[in-house]
Amino acid sequence: MTRSNIRFILNDREVSLEHVGASDTLLDFLRIDRRLTGTKEGCAEGDCGACTVLVGRLQNGVLQYEPVNACIRLTASLDACHVVSIEYLSGPHGKLHPVQQAMVEHHGSQCGFCTPGFVMSLYALWMKTPDPSEVEIETALQGNLCRCTGYQPIIKAAKAITSHGSPAQDALTRERSAMTAKLTELADGQRVEVARGNSRCVLPASVDDLADALMDCPDATIVAGATDVGLWVTKFLRDISPVVFIGHLDELREVTTTDDAIRLGAGVSYEGARDALLGLYPHLGAFWDRIAGWQIRSMGTIGGNVANGSPIGDTPPALIALGATITLRKGKTRRSMPIEDFFIEYGKQDREPSDFLEAISVPKPRPDARHAAYKISKRRDEDISSVCAAFNVTVTSGQITAARIAFGGMAATPKRATHAEAAIVGKPWSEATLLRAADRLGEDFTPLTDWRASSEYRLTVSKNLFRKFWLDQQGDRALAQLSA
Ligand code: FES
Ligand code: FES
Repeated sequence: MTRSNIRFILNDREVSLEHVGASDTLLDFLRIDRRLTGTKEGCAEGDCGACTVLVGRLQNGVLQYEPVNACIRLTASLDACHVVSIEYLSGPHGKLHPVQQAMVEHHGSQCGFCTPGFVMSLYALWMKTPDPSEVEIETALQGNLCRCTGYQPIIKAAKAITSHGSPAQDALTRERSAMTAKLTELADGQRVEVARGNSRCVLPASVDDLADALMDCPDATIVAGATDVGLWVTKFLRDISPVVFIGHLDELREVTTTDDAIRLGAGVSYEGARDALLGLYPHLGAFWDRIAGWQIRSMGTIGGNVANGSPIGDTPPALIALGATITLRKGKTRRSMPIEDFFIEYGKQDREPSDFLEAISVPKPRPDARHAAYKISKRRDEDISSVCAAFNVTVTSGQITAARIAFGGMAATPKRATHAEAAIVGKPWSEATLLRAADRLGEDFTPLTDWRASSEYRLTVSKNLFRKFWLDQQGDRALAQLSA
């Protein structure tokens, strides 16, 4: 059975759309089609947060709301979702919503252009964490840019929201069971196919159906979170049709743990992987918070980050260092490979027509392994890396017995530093050993100069990261050494 309309709830209205093109965005739908102009367009590339809305979706039967960038969220992907725009917020008896009231009282808005986006991000934070710490507020607002008010009043407002109300009284909480029932009804398990003109969208009913859809349409654009593909649409005006959407497939959003590994379905978002992955690998905590902003971490998937093969993707170096493997599927046939083998050359991955990435498997850490992951970028938050580095070094009785060291931004693909690795295996675990390995980096990489960083800078900073790795492993002793 195939359904030929996209159905979702927008605020309190059911929407049914039969003519939807692959490139149609939620922001255009809100502003142009529905005249809901509270949601703003700033950058149209997922960077400024002016277009933030909440999208609720059933995940294994549980309704979960996430902040997303409407500018790059493709409309067809909203089937069986609840879209909440700024217009839906209100307090009891026509008063302002607690988030809005707090923003007013703490002077959190001047020109106001960014304000609806900030309110929606703060709303998402308040529903999850009613009394957030300053760090939690700053992390929630990484994806929202304000050019005139300054962040201090907004942070003060964020701390004061709960004094104006409780999430228990909020509409989304009160309507939760009714909305869950409605979305359950909308998610009828059918394949959905819609088109506008020649532009086609397919939402497969299951992973098996996805495999079939790609056999029929081998060169379709596969879209999960659209955090990369969305920019092909808004910035490069590319025709991405036909598109096969996968973000709604629960089977691809599963995180499972076995005795020796953690398996991430290819549709698991950065936020969705956080608890399981960071539970095993706490060193990734600070690194994870530097992947874009909250909206993008909610939308973007690790599978997408791997599949698009960018040399400056954040997660591939870390996954290569951890020894991850990936599973690709074509029809009923699956093949697995070490993740580093997937990246063949710039823009070319080991993926044939009809292939799709099904899962990423990350082995559990060895007890004697030492880990680190670093991102070097011009801005601390919400930026693309100039260099990413990840270390996984096994030390047994003071000797280095194994090493996996990977870099992004240093070559045409994410890549292991094999000369540097060879230089340390079998050697004593010491700063001198790591510095000797750093000296071999020039044999591994001849980085490019571009507007993000020069070749010389990339090589120098990468060498310095070996020293940082050593110092970080010394903990407080390193601080004592430096201040001595
Ligand atoms: Fe800037 Fe969407 S308009 S993130
Ligand atoms: Fe003007 Fe934020 S209030 S950009």
